[in-house]
Amino acid sequence: MRMRSVQQHPPVVSAERMETAIRTPRLLLDALKPADAETLFAYRADPEVARFQGWCPADVEEARAFIDAQSRLSFDHANGWVQCAIRLHKYGELIGDLGLNLPADREATVEFGISIAPAHQGHGYACEAVKACFERVFGTLGRHRIHASVDPRNLASVAMLKSLGMRQEAHHRESLWLRGEWLDDMIFALLKREWMLHQTSDSIAVKL
Ligand SMILES: CC(C)(COP(=O)(O)OP(=O)(O)OC[C@H]1O[C@@H](n2cnc3c(N)ncnc32)[C@H](O)[C@@H]1OP(=O)(O)O)[C@@H](O)C(=O)NCCC(=O)NCCS
Repeated sequence: MRMRSVQQHPPVVSAERMETAIRTPRLLLDALKPADAETLFAYRADPEVARFQGWCPADVEEARAFIDAQSRLSFDHANGWVQCAIRLHKYGELIGDLGLNLPADREATVEFGISIAPAHQGHGYACEAVKACFERVFGTLGRHRIHASVDPRNLASVAMLKSLGMRQEAHHRESLWLRGEWLDDMIFALLKREWMLHQTSDSIAVKL
C-alpha cells in the first residue's frame, strides 16, 4: 500500500491503455485523465489520505505530471506500478485511485495500493474496486500472489485488507524509513488458490 518497491521502467504506450478499464456494479476503473488533476490533488493532499502514503503531490502540477506519466501504462503490459482512476460510473466522478505493481516477470508477486477520497469513504467502494482488481490479477493476468504493505496504525486499511480475506504474513518492526522516521510495516497477502476458494464459498453462500 505504501509502494515500497522500486519503480521500474514503463513499457507500453497508449492504445492498450483502455484494456485497464474494469466495471463493477457501481464503479469504473479506467485511465487517469488530465482533467482529473485537481480532484486527484485535492484528495491525495488531504492529510487523512496522505498520512500513511509514500507519495503525496506537492501541488496540482505534480498531480498533472503523475497523470501524464501514467497515461503511457497499462495493467496488461506492465513492468512496475500502474495507477488507475476509480470513478462512480453513474456520474463519472473521480473518487479515488488504485495502483498495481505488476513486474514483467509473471512469477513475481504483485502489490497493490488504494486511496479513496474522504467524502466517499465508508461505502464499500475500496473493497468493490480491489475485488475487481483481484479478478483481473488472478483471472485474466493469471498471477500467483498479491500483497499489500500497510502501516499498523492505518486501522481503516488493515480492516479493509482483512475484510478482503487477505492473510497477515508479517509485521516488520521499524523496517521502513519514511519522512524522517522508522516505521513498522505489516504485510497482507492472498494467493490465487485462496482467492478461488473465496469465490467458491461466496457463490455457495449466495445459493444457500
Ligand atoms: C483504506 C481505505 C482505502 C478504505 O476505503 P473505504 O472505501 O472507506 O473502504 P470500504 O468502505 O470498502 O471498507 C472496507 C472495510 O474496512 C472497514 N473500514 C473502513 N474504514 C474503516 C475505519 N476508519 N475504521 C475501521 N474499519 C474501517 C469497513 O468497515 C469495511 O469492513 P467490512 O467489510 O468488514 O464492513 C480508505 O480509508 C483510504 O483511502 N484511506 C487513506 C489512504 C490510505 O491510507 N491508503 C492505504 C495506503 S497504505
